[in-house]
Amino acid sequence: MKACQITGTDGLNSLKTVDLPEPKPGPGEVLIRLRAVSLNYRDYMNVLGIKGVTGPVPRIPCSDGSGEVAAVGEGVPMWKPGDRVVVPFMPSWLDGEFSQTHASQALGGMVDGLLREFATMRAESLLPVPAHLSFEEASTLPCAAVTAWDALNVRGGLKAGETVLVLGTGGVSVFALQFAKLAGARVLAITSSDEKSGRLRELGAEAVHNYTSDPDWDKWVLSQTGGLGVDKVVEIGGAETLNRSIRAVRFGGHIALIGVLTGTSGEIQTVQILRKGIRLDGIYVGSREMFAQMLAEIERVKMQPVIDSTFEFADARAAFEHLGSGKHFGKIVIRL
Ligand SMILES: NC(=O)c1ccc[n+]([C@@H]2O[C@H](COP(=O)([O-])OP(=O)(O)OC[C@H]3O[C@@H](n4cnc5c(N)ncnc54)[C@H](OP(=O)(O)O)[C@@H]3O)[C@@H](O)[C@H]2O)c1
Repeated sequence: MKACQITGTDGLNSLKTVDLPEPKPGPGEVLIRLRAVSLNYRDYMNVLGIKGVTGPVPRIPCSDGSGEVAAVGEGVPMWKPGDRVVVPFMPSWLDGEFSQTHASQALGGMVDGLLREFATMRAESLLPVPAHLSFEEASTLPCAAVTAWDALNVRGGLKAGETVLVLGTGGVSVFALQFAKLAGARVLAITSSDEKSGRLRELGAEAVHNYTSDPDWDKWVLSQTGGLGVDKVVEIGGAETLNRSIRAVRFGGHIALIGVLTGTSGEIQTVQILRKGIRLDGIYVGSREMFAQMLAEIERVKMQPVIDSTFEFADARAAFEHLGSGKHFGKIVIRL
């Protein structure tokens, strides 16, 4: 089978197409013919080895994929060839509490990911692709969408009428905007680009602020909320944005700490977290059960993921470069 591998530590130059033996499904396993893979910022960090993210090489990148069942191993009554499936980010985290073991098995991290024609997975970890979604659309869901769902609907306990702040227009933030609107929340958004502002408004953001022309977006958020702050922040920036998020959230509000786009450590105003009674919640994607609940809602309302662009497998490098440029809005997909 064809696969893309990270073969060394020379960034995108290390990304190579290789031929590997096609895997065979063992007992309890399913062989998946992958049809689409979507990119997350983490995949880009893995290939470039930036912000301290490294893993063993050679290794197949990309956590998120969807495809069809090509064959099943012994003792797999629930899937048959041709079924359309999507693979959770941490296939072993079915439900219940998160653990180090689940994290160590996140696809495309310490273990091989899905930028390849075939993969075997435990049958019980897979989920069906909703009928209204293409393989490309389904491939956008395992990491970014489940993270946004967990941040807002599971850990955040979002209620109708609350106000959510989303940062930027990447995969997690655009899903967070969509889920917040579905829940009946008001959304404020910040972006680097006036052009992207219009698209955020089309998706339902009530007000949008350009953080490049005016970096004091925390003051803007307060001005939009009568000086009180928002109920929830979907925090994808990390080190350099967290203090502003702390200032922009209300007393007793919730910050879902998700991203590292501006760095992995920094000086944080810890006193403001306790003074304001903020719930600062580290999120690492979510379980298969959360994914299943999210899929049910996506299916119920026929929600469409926002795909920025789709690349062919032969152009995988260009897809990663596009993600690195930060010009995208929503998700970038590679078709297999
Ligand atoms: N903890 C988890 O479970 C989890 C899961 C998924 C992702 N993540 C992390 O979350 C972050 C986002 O991931 P992603 O895949 O959604 O990334 P992405 O699609 O590459 O999104 C990047 C976008 O973020 C915005 N951005 C960049 N710097 C910003 C800043 N200083 N302030 C506000 N917005 C900024 C930009 O949008 P504009 O051009 O509109 O400004 C940029 O296009 C990454 O750090 C990723 O590692 C964590």
